[in-house]
Amino acid sequence: MLFKLVNMNKILYWISYMSLINNYFSVDHQKLDCLFEAFISHRTKGDDNGYNYFQLFHKGLIQHIEWEEKILFPFIENLVPMSQGPTSVMCEEHGQIKVLLEIIDHKLASQFNGEILEITQLTTILAAHNLKEENVLYPMIDNNINQAQRAEIFSEMELLQQTKRA
Ligand SMILES: [Fe+2]
Ligand SMILES: [Fe+2]
Repeated sequence: MLFKLVNMNKILYWISYMSLINNYFSVDHQKLDCLFEAFISHRTKGDDNGYNYFQLFHKGLIQHIEWEEKILFPFIENLVPMSQGPTSVMCEEHGQIKVLLEIIDHKLASQFNGEILEITQLTTILAAHNLKEENVLYPMIDNNINQAQRAEIFSEMELLQQTKRA
């Protein structure tokens, strides 16, 4: 019985390893959603602290996009050329997301008091974008790479972060 349990744990461990890219990037989406929701909730209450949450969200999302555009997407494009269709759509959406982030940031920094329509636009585009990545692109990546390649991706992500800190 115990032997079976150990084996089952090992199997579950390997299954989660095989979707590590999807898990890691999906959790990063959730972390960013959490910061964005905190921003919205402070803003609804008219609390200026909301801007701090927005700045963390903005910085985190730019980092996430850089990981995807500089490391993750080129990696899968080299291995699976047909992935270039989905990755180019994602990059196009990143462009729209970055423009919206800049506009919102600028309006918040200049204490614009009216309704910021770009917040709703960003919420809509980001929800659909994340869903496409989690349901299509990340699983495609996980299905086409091995553990050594996962390690290579995570190591490049770490190096990119270190270069930016230096
Ligand atoms: Fe993305
Ligand atoms: Fe993403």
